[in-house]
Amino acid sequence: MHFQWYPGHMTKARRAMQEDIKLIDVVIELVDARIPYSSKNPDIDELAKGKSRVLLLNKRDMADADTIPGWIRFYEKKGYLAMAVNAKKKNELRQVNDLIQKACKEKIERDRRRGILNRPVRAMIVGIPNVGKSTFINSFAGKACAKTGNKPGVTKGKQWIRLNKQVELLDTPGILWPKFEDQTVGQHLAFIGSIRDELIQSVDLALDLIVFLCGEYPGKLGRFYDVDESADPVAVLTEIAVNRGCIQKGNEPNLDKGAFLLLDDFRNARLGQITIEISPDK
Ligand code: G4P
Repeated sequence: MHFQWYPGHMTKARRAMQEDIKLIDVVIELVDARIPYSSKNPDIDELAKGKSRVLLLNKRDMADADTIPGWIRFYEKKGYLAMAVNAKKKNELRQVNDLIQKACKEKIERDRRRGILNRPVRAMIVGIPNVGKSTFINSFAGKACAKTGNKPGVTKGKQWIRLNKQVELLDTPGILWPKFEDQTVGQHLAFIGSIRDELIQSVDLALDLIVFLCGEYPGKLGRFYDVDESADPVAVLTEIAVNRGCIQKGNEPNLDKGAFLLLDDFRNARLGQITIEISPDK
């Protein structure tokens, strides 16, 4: 299957982000913990040059816990302060504050030497669509008050949210689109539902997912759908369709419906916590 995608407002969003980044001290980047490589847009490294960097592996609750430490090591080696989070869990996000402080330690020290005390560090959330940016901002900011946005340079309509004495957060996240010249990246984004479904062949994608799951998580499909995993992928998908009552005219299994069901179960973690990409730094 060939993955292609032409998102509309890419250039505009990138330009807006370029402007916003000038105002901030620390870039907090969200990636999906199930595909921590493919859900990261490499352009951000250029855009955020010279800024402190925090990387959050979000949707921790959907990913395989055993794969997380390897990815944290991988990104720490690249100079990020990294941790895994569940953006839906407010109380888990307190630690992110410490990470921001740690990331901005040098800047805070520099300010102190110049006699500037208690100037909050400014942070911004960035990431590809659907990675959990809005959820994160809502949970992280909680009841914090939004301040007016009429500060020089702040894009109209944007506001700083004062999280506490130390941190201010831009209320609007920076959006970057995933890059997938590499077809594996496209496939992984499609698995988690980050490519609009009308652009992909669901049956082909489901067959790819079956191959992956039977190889990396043997027994999962067998148990969940009561199917024989040793059969070929088309036979597995057919059995899933039959067992789940996806039948069409002529009493034939409906593979489109079966594919949709499998992808939906996977994307909503009904198959359990599964990570697609393993860190090279295991
Ligand atoms: P975005 O701003 O980056 O585009 O993403 P957004 O916050 O809209 O989140 C996309 C989806 O991911 C939402 O689900 C959101 O609830 C879910 N999500 C975000 N963070 C986490 C997380 O850490 N764990 C889990 N399990 N889900 C997370 P949705 O289906 O679009 O909406 P809804 O289910 O919240 O109604």
